[in-house]
Amino acid sequence: MKPSLPHVLTFCLAVSTQAYSRHSGKASKTCAGLQSKFGDSIVQTAGAEYLSTVSNAWSLFNTLQRPTCVMYPRNANHVQVAMREIYRDKVRYAVQAGSHSGMTGWNNVDGGVLFAFSHMKDVKYNSTSDIITLQPGIRWGEAIAAVESYGVAPMGGRLTDVGTGLLLGGGLSYLAPEYGFSADLFKELDVVLVDGDLVTATATNRYSDLFRALKGGANRFGIVTRYAVEAVHTGTKEDKLWFGGLILYPEEAAEALVNATAKFVRSVTEPKAALFTCLFYAKTGGVLTDTHLVTLFYRGPSLPLDIYGDFLSIPFTSQSLGPASYSDAVNALGPGADRGFGQNFGGSAIAGPTSRYLDALNHFKNYSSIFQDELDHTLMAFTPILQSQINAGRTRGRNAIDPPDGPYAAVVFQDQYKQGVARISQELQDGRKLLFKQIPPSPGLPLYVGESDATQNAFATYSGYEFLKRTYAKYDPTRFNVQYADGPPGL
Ligand SMILES: Cc1cc2nc3c(=O)[nH]c(=O)nc-3n(C[C@H](O)[C@H](O)[C@H](O)COP(=O)(O)OP(=O)(O)OC[C@H]3O[C@@H](n4cnc5c(N)ncnc54)[C@H](O)[C@@H]3O)c2cc1C
Ligand SMILES: *[C@@H]1O[C@H](CO)[C@@H](O)[C@H](O)[C@H]1NC(C)=O
Ligand SMILES: *[C@@H]1O[C@H](CO)[C@@H](O)[C@H](O)[C@H]1NC(C)=O
Ligand SMILES: *[C@@H]1O[C@H](CO)[C@@H](O)[C@H](O)[C@H]1NC(C)=O
Repeated sequence: MKPSLPHVLTFCLAVSTQAYSRHSGKASKTCAGLQSKFGDSIVQTAGAEYLSTVSNAWSLFNTLQRPTCVMYPRNANHVQVAMREIYRDKVRYAVQAGSHSGMTGWNNVDGGVLFAFSHMKDVKYNSTSDIITLQPGIRWGEAIAAVESYGVAPMGGRLTDVGTGLLLGGGLSYLAPEYGFSADLFKELDVVLVDGDLVTATATNRYSDLFRALKGGANRFGIVTRYAVEAVHTGTKEDKLWFGGLILYPEEAAEALVNATAKFVRSVTEPKAALFTCLFYAKTGGVLTDTHLVTLFYRGPSLPLDIYGDFLSIPFTSQSLGPASYSDAVNALGPGADRGFGQNFGGSAIAGPTSRYLDALNHFKNYSSIFQDELDHTLMAFTPILQSQINAGRTRGRNAIDPPDGPYAAVVFQDQYKQGVARISQELQDGRKLLFKQIPPSPGLPLYVGESDATQNAFATYSGYEFLKRTYAKYDPTRFNVQYADGPPGL
């Protein structure tokens, strides 16, 4: 079921013509200035590329805004000059990398300047330093494919269409139990600060606070124009150093899957063991159908039964398990590239007894059945955060999230609404709020900002919250970013 693009485009144009005239005043001057400096291929106010950028965000809700101009930087200097003028003119702006944010307004803007990184997609591996350098426009599938022949990979996410904005929220991958959040492997970041200054932040230079803040601080601290990250030695496509794959389960497996996931989170200490559990509810042909799934990947020749036995003994619908390379693992769930649907994320974090997980399941099932007519699908997924992952982050100089000791499950709720539907009902909005209240994060556990609702204030759940606030005040003393760009609250 592919979105019918012409329909979506017509709709966007209708909606955003009004928005344009409402907000475009000041930004038109800024955009005109930038256009005369850089030309109309780098700064665009209309045309095919402009339209494809603003209409191709993953969530339909992020295709409805109409920026006064889209800036397509080719290098960091372009970003610097534009940011300096945006700051001077007090103009709204947004940044778009892979466009997979589920938060409305975080990667597009009405009547301001949108930075789109679709012309900055280089990826390079330096085998002497063992560092991979990424420009922000690359997607994980492309980045992994580009360096795979060297037997290395950057840590990113688990779906190929997602982009580098993931790193700034922390990042969860199949490699996380061994190496930490994806951001924990940062070596060096080029960052354009809010006033247009370009700095290089590392763990040990004068920008070490900024460096740490960018491991979880999302889009609040500046625009990253280059990520240098430690390479993970994953092997080539032929090496197949993992064993695992995807298992699909029928509806009645939900409780057993949740039980097995809760036990995995509590008891598994093996950093080579990765798991992703997803309870998926969709209405097809007028019936609410559930297809639950897990992906399990073990860095070794087979799946150890003491770790995965429960999952293997639950009656399944189908499975595809076998030797796998890292890119096979990242392709197991498909690209995640659907377009044309409104999307919303929500988050939680659960530790402790199985009953807490079952409680979450019951609330979620209620939510999915009450709102099934408005949903294309909804899912609740669990990612185990093992103690080894938390330790790996600390060993590498700590991230801003810095979860307390003890394993937990990061939980995401993802709603995908009916195709082309641009607004959700008040009842559903209230239902989401209730769901977040019914399934709160266990005390002390962090929400994952890349997969939470904008109202959930993920930063306030970080152990590094005070640090984050201090660092924000230092790098953006006039609080420009929180006023002129949408993003996580709390700073
Ligand atoms: C299908 C799907 C699968 C996912 N799977 C995973 C997963 O396996 N693991 C995981 O951790 N997360 C996952 N996520 C969540 C993901 O981390 C977030 O959606 C993330 O925001 C995506 O980054 P992006 O570059 O694609 O999106 P964008 O929307 O382009 O960017 C996300 C945010 O970061 C900001 N940003 C992007 N680039 C920069 C930059 N260079 N400088 C400053 N700010 C910037 C943007 O303004 C925006 O606010 C998934 C999301 C989806 C939709
Ligand atoms: C690769 O890294 C080494 C060691 O840090 C450095 O000396 C060299 O200049 C780098 N090569 C390139 C092409 O950047
Ligand atoms: C799940 O765990 C609960 C609590 O431990 C138990 O009562 C229930 O029978 C289990 N269900 C399944 C299907 O294993
Ligand atoms: C089920 O969801 C509806 C809609 O949000 C809510 O009104 C109701 O209280 C929920 N029931 C339970 C038992 O949580």
